[in-house]
Amino acid sequence: MTDQEFARLRDVIYKRSGIHFPDNKKYILESRLGHRLHELDLENFDQYIAFLTMGPYQVDEFQEMFNRITINETSFFRNEAQLQVFERQILPELLEARKDLKRIRIWSAACSTGEEPYTLAILVHRSLGVRLADWRIEILGTDISERALKVANGGIYTNYAMRSTSELIKRRYFTEENGQFRLSDEIREMVSFELHNLKDSMAAKRHGTWDIIFCRNVLIYFDDQMKRLVTNTFADVLAKDGTLFIGHSENIRDVSDAFEQLPIPQGFCYRHASCAGALSGGASR
Ligand SMILES: C[S@@+](CC[C@H](N)C(=O)[O-])C[C@H]1O[C@@H](n2cnc3c(N)ncnc32)[C@H](O)[C@@H]1O
Repeated sequence: MTDQEFARLRDVIYKRSGIHFPDNKKYILESRLGHRLHELDLENFDQYIAFLTMGPYQVDEFQEMFNRITINETSFFRNEAQLQVFERQILPELLEARKDLKRIRIWSAACSTGEEPYTLAILVHRSLGVRLADWRIEILGTDISERALKVANGGIYTNYAMRSTSELIKRRYFTEENGQFRLSDEIREMVSFELHNLKDSMAAKRHGTWDIIFCRNVLIYFDDQMKRLVTNTFADVLAKDGTLFIGHSENIRDVSDAFEQLPIPQGFCYRHASCAGALSGGASR
C-alpha cells in the first residue's frame, strides 16, 4: 500500500465510521485488507478504494471492510472493578429511582461479540433475583461489525472470552459443550443486538432514552471530533439521572462539558453535568 493509497483509504474509513488510523497503524489496513484484494481480483488499493466508494456493491463492501478492520477484543467481566461500581452503586440507585416505573434501559454501544451486554444482563439478573419478573429490562448491544454481532447472537463462547469469569458464574449461567460455553437462555433473552454505526447520531436518537450507556474501549479509535459527536449524542439520549460508563484508558474531558465524572474510584462513569449529584425521574421513549 503506498502512502497515498493509505491516506485516501483512511480518509474514506474516517468519513464513514469516525475510526482514525494514525500513520503507525498502516500495517493493520495492509494486513487485514490485503487478502480482500486477492479475493476481489484487484491489483492495488487504489482499485479497492474505487470498488469501495463507486461500485454497485459499496454498502456491502463497507460492511465487509468493517468486519475485517475493527478490533473486536473483549471478554466477559472486562474490568471487574468498574463492573462492581455498576453492580453495587449505580444499579441499586437506579432500581430505587425506577421502583415505580419498573423499567430500565441499558445500551452497550460498540459491544463487539456481546460479552459486555451479556455481562450486564448477568449482573442485573443477579441483583434482581426473583424480582426480575416484575421488571421490564431492555439491554441493547450495538456494533458496526456484522460479523461480531453474529457471534453475539450465537451466545457460544470460547475459554478465552471467559478468562475473567468466576467458576460460580460459569456454573450458574453457562453450559459447557465441546470445550465451549453456551450462555443460558434466560440471559440471552434479556439482550438484543443491532447493527449501529456510532457516527450515525440520528439513528441513535430513534432508540429513545437510556438509563445506562456503556461505551468502553472504542473512543480510543476516534479523534476528538468524532469523540465530540459521540458524546454529544450520548448527552441527548441519556436520561437526566442516567450514567455513562467509558473505558479506563479513555476520557471525554476535552471534548464535552455536558458530562461530569462521578467521584468514584475505578468507576470511569459520568452523569449529565447539570445533575451529577442527584437521581430522579425516569427514562422514557
Ligand atoms: C475493542 S472492542 C470493545 C468491546 C467492548 N465495548 C469492550 O470494552 O470489551 C471495540 C468495538 O468497537 C466497534 N466499533 C468501532 N468503530 C465503531 C463505530 N463507528 N460504531 C460502532 N462500533 C464501532 C468495533 O467493531 C469493535 O467491536
